[in-house]
Amino acid sequence: MTEMIPVPNSQNNSNPAIKVVPALPDAQTVTQVKHYTDRLFSFRCTRPASMRFRSGEFVMIGLMGDPHPETSKVKPLLRAYSIASPNWDEELEFYSIKVQDGPLTSRLQHIEVGQEIILRPKPVGTLVHDALLPGKRLWLFATGTGFAPFASLLREPQTYEDYEEIIITHTCREIGELTYGHDLIKGLEMDELLNEVIGDGFWKKIKYYPTTTREPSQIIGRITDLLRSGQAFTDLGVPVLSPESDRAMICGNMAFNLELKAMLEGYGLVEGANSNPQHYVVEKAFLD
Ligand code: A2P
Repeated sequence: MTEMIPVPNSQNNSNPAIKVVPALPDAQTVTQVKHYTDRLFSFRCTRPASMRFRSGEFVMIGLMGDPHPETSKVKPLLRAYSIASPNWDEELEFYSIKVQDGPLTSRLQHIEVGQEIILRPKPVGTLVHDALLPGKRLWLFATGTGFAPFASLLREPQTYEDYEEIIITHTCREIGELTYGHDLIKGLEMDELLNEVIGDGFWKKIKYYPTTTREPSQIIGRITDLLRSGQAFTDLGVPVLSPESDRAMICGNMAFNLELKAMLEGYGLVEGANSNPQHYVVEKAFLD
């Protein structure tokens, strides 16, 4: 079911010949594309009318693959992508890496407004509020495109209802790779609708901590090292994480996820799940 198929009514029921058939199964239409660096881009697309999700979840999206050399059959080429838009948004947003020889992103990076992507409307994921116990401070730890689910959660009213303080750390190789997150957080200040719905100045609960590892910036180094040395806590003016007050979500490359997970366990935090809410959660969807 997609928005490309007209909602049945007496008119088109009586005349099935007028049905619009999308070119792709589960097709959604791209409405906006933004390129940030030669490695990063974001895009927006239509949202299936019936699709519900919790901010922080992911879906499978993609394109049709190349025809099989012998049978000429084509199969969908799908990858897990965090939804970067909040659940109240009428469109969907995604933030993606461009891998030049990656089966999907080598092609997806050339997508243009008006073209179709495949979107399987079955959202799942662990980076959701339901998987965490109540707490005072929420830490969102991202590297690279791991910022995506947090772009959703930072625009989700519940985030500000549930926590007194939200710390978002984002470690990237270069400054240009911070633009998407930086612009999104700056945009919250000016977002009249969100300030009205969530409360004027809600964004003051956010502490943004961007760091770079391969180009000098205001804060240099991996967040893991900055936590270990204590510099991150000093800079942010907060105590070391504790299971009493802190909750955390982790989303980045595999090595980062594993290293930070071990560090959080070291602070005494316990991993949670939808069925067993605890102190922290880790993204379970991985992109190649
Ligand atoms: P570094 O430049 O030191 O590898 P990538 O683009 O390769 O996914 O990396 C995104 C960011 O995540 C980079 O700044 C990278 O730092 C950092 N990073 C990679 N592995 C880890 C890790 N185990 N712990 C913390 N940061 C990491």
